[in-house]
Amino acid sequence: MRWHRMVAAGLLMLLAAGAARAETVGFAQVGSESDWRTAFSADMKAEAARRGIKLLFSNADNNPARQRQQVQDFIAAHVDAIVIAPVVVTGWTDTLKAVKAAGIPVFIADRAVDADPGLFIARIAADFNLEGRLAAAWLAQASRGSCEIVELLGTEGSEPAIQRHKGFLAVAAQFPNMRIVRSEGGDFTTEGGAKAMQDLIGATNGLKGICAVWSHNDNMLLGAIKAMRAAGLHPGHDQLMLSVDGVPDIYPALAAGDANMSVELKSDIGKYIYDVVQGYLGGRRDYPKWVVIPSDLHTQADADTMQRVSR
Ligand code: AHR
Repeated sequence: MRWHRMVAAGLLMLLAAGAARAETVGFAQVGSESDWRTAFSADMKAEAARRGIKLLFSNADNNPARQRQQVQDFIAAHVDAIVIAPVVVTGWTDTLKAVKAAGIPVFIADRAVDADPGLFIARIAADFNLEGRLAAAWLAQASRGSCEIVELLGTEGSEPAIQRHKGFLAVAAQFPNMRIVRSEGGDFTTEGGAKAMQDLIGATNGLKGICAVWSHNDNMLLGAIKAMRAAGLHPGHDQLMLSVDGVPDIYPALAAGDANMSVELKSDIGKYIYDVVQGYLGGRRDYPKWVVIPSDLHTQADADTMQRVSR
């Protein structure tokens, strides 16, 4: 009897120790280029704290080499799992192989990598290609399929820039009178969007004949709106203004009619990411390679409601 009690007590102690041990997760974040990114970082930190996860957070400031080094640092710190939101899709194979060799599971969040899917457990992210298709479908309806478009591109080589462009083109190609006439890079920043728009205004004689501005994110669109106003143009009225993210600042612009549509990319996605990470660390193995996070679409019609709920 005494012997049984001692074994039971030992088992209880082991269980308690297991339950109390917090997982350490390294998160290699892209940077802080946009309001969406800042909100996503804040959510990852808050959700980790809620779950008792010890989070090691790194910010690559949009530098792919720095981000790869930060992942190496997580390996050296012997974390339990690594989450990477990759700046660009390329250049990941060696780093992912090193993490695998160290026996640490890797999860890709938000953006994608162009690497053997066997090198990571799962990607948890929205469908950027769908976002591009949704934007083009909305524009096709709003312009009755006849529209010359200028495009503000996100960071070159990043998954959202690649897929939003492709998805948009796939739908636009269905309409013979709908086409992108010029694209300019704006790096997903407000300043980048303003600068790209100044160049576009110069190259198109003040956006003559342009019926829409399609921007890969809200921050670039907000920068473009400022640049257009400074040039005496009327964004949202003379040109339809559409983008992606659904950040808080886009809703007043939608309500005022300066912007016309934004596909929402949810930023409070820590819950989806840590569900997979913790599930995997707890022994679950039936995750699909891509856990898809749903998107939404907002216009002037729901801008007031969104202004209230998004702050
Ligand atoms: O990867 C998602 C994109 O990155 C967001 O749409 C953009 O705002 C961010 O910088």
